[in-house]
Amino acid sequence: MRALTWHGKHDVRVETVDDPEVLNPRDAIIRVTSTAICGSDLHLYDGSIPTMQKGDILGHEFMGEVVETGAASTLKKGQRVVVPFTIACGACYHCGKHQYSACDNGLPAENQDIAQVLYGQPMSGLFGYSHMTGGYAGGQAEYVRVPFSDTGPIVIPDGVDDDKVLFLSDILPTGWMAAENAGIEPGDIVAVWGCGPVGLFAVQSALLMGAERVIAIDHFPHRLELARHFGAETINFEQSSVYEALLEMTGGIGPDAVIDAVGLEAHGFFVDNVLDQIKVSTFLGTDRAHSIRQAIHACRKGGRVSMPAVYGGFIDKFPLGAFMEKGLTLRTGQTHVQHYLPGLLAAVMADKIDTTFLISHRLPLEQAADGYRLFHDHQNEVTKVVLKPGLQPA
Ligand SMILES: NC(=O)c1ccc[n+]([C@@H]2O[C@H](COP(=O)([O-])OP(=O)(O)OC[C@H]3O[C@@H](n4cnc5c(N)ncnc54)[C@H](O)[C@@H]3O)[C@@H](O)[C@H]2O)c1
Ligand SMILES: [Zn+2]
Ligand SMILES: [Zn+2]
Repeated sequence: MRALTWHGKHDVRVETVDDPEVLNPRDAIIRVTSTAICGSDLHLYDGSIPTMQKGDILGHEFMGEVVETGAASTLKKGQRVVVPFTIACGACYHCGKHQYSACDNGLPAENQDIAQVLYGQPMSGLFGYSHMTGGYAGGQAEYVRVPFSDTGPIVIPDGVDDDKVLFLSDILPTGWMAAENAGIEPGDIVAVWGCGPVGLFAVQSALLMGAERVIAIDHFPHRLELARHFGAETINFEQSSVYEALLEMTGGIGPDAVIDAVGLEAHGFFVDNVLDQIKVSTFLGTDRAHSIRQAIHACRKGGRVSMPAVYGGFIDKFPLGAFMEKGLTLRTGQTHVQHYLPGLLAAVMADKIDTTFLISHRLPLEQAADGYRLFHDHQNEVTKVVLKPGLQPA
């Protein structure tokens, strides 16, 4: 089959690789019909995530048709499914608490050591996202093996377009969980850092959950425009001081809840970001954490911090004093996708959440490397790239 493989920093290629096979009774094989490139994939593309190996197949946002099932899969051939990016068993202690991204059985035994050492405990597996998260082949491919297929994938009713439901695999539940983690109360003012897909779904979700005002922050005019389209007020961090603008917009109090949807590759000419950049490039640091520092600094006293953004390692200059003295709470994590799927599928079907606005580019899988380059180099206009195996080039 054909698949998008990783070969190093800014080097991804579509190649012919072995077809996946059913390895365990709970597996299913999916013929991929749509798969998206995620902001998280850019961290791999930029070489920011350790434990990648040449030839790894990327992709964790995908959907398709069931073509083969193991003896214990509950799926049927011909069904269309969206697959969560988190690989979870559905039966362990954490899955029992619906904390699927903390599943104890998502990682093969031989891949558990790194996360055990780095984080204290191994996490769930992830598709196409380094060997630390299981070394699973991803879904930017013609076919993909889906472990635990009896617990993860959600069956999509006939006649519903891929474009409408594809984002259930990751970014829609991630934006939703980000808003939920912000503990929104009616009347709240919520600030969201980053108007990428995750930030834009967090904006929509926060408003649906009763936020009175949402303030979205970025520097790309088109992405800020999309946030305004959903009713957010916006701050361009290249044109104003974010902290001062937020104080001014909230009567000097600060936002009730802040959401960091940026993550470990923050942009911007800020002192801490420049220092982080130097540390990362000289292997003295791992993450550029400007947005979470700024979010904590700007949040009102007693407020809530939600961090869907991905961080990988260790940071310094963390405003622990402000965090403690202001009595903030922080909630974060890889999304427990399986927990949110039924409710969000219903919301999409009822047109309560708009998903298709985001797609700026649809490309054949064969042009996936171009898709990565576009999404990486032209973030203003390229808001989401969807790859479709078999699509004829435009
Ligand atoms: N928790 C999860 O399960 C989960 C799932 C998916 C994605 N993520 C993470 O969420 C984050 C966002 O994902 P995405 O797909 O929207 O990514 P993206 O790269 O498309 O968007 C990030 C946006 O942040 C903006 N930004 C950069 N620096 C900023 C700053 N200093 N202030 C304000 N905005 C700034 C960028 O201009 C960009 O528009 C990433 O870190 C991604 O890895 C987490
Ligand atoms: Zn993703
Ligand atoms: Zn589990």
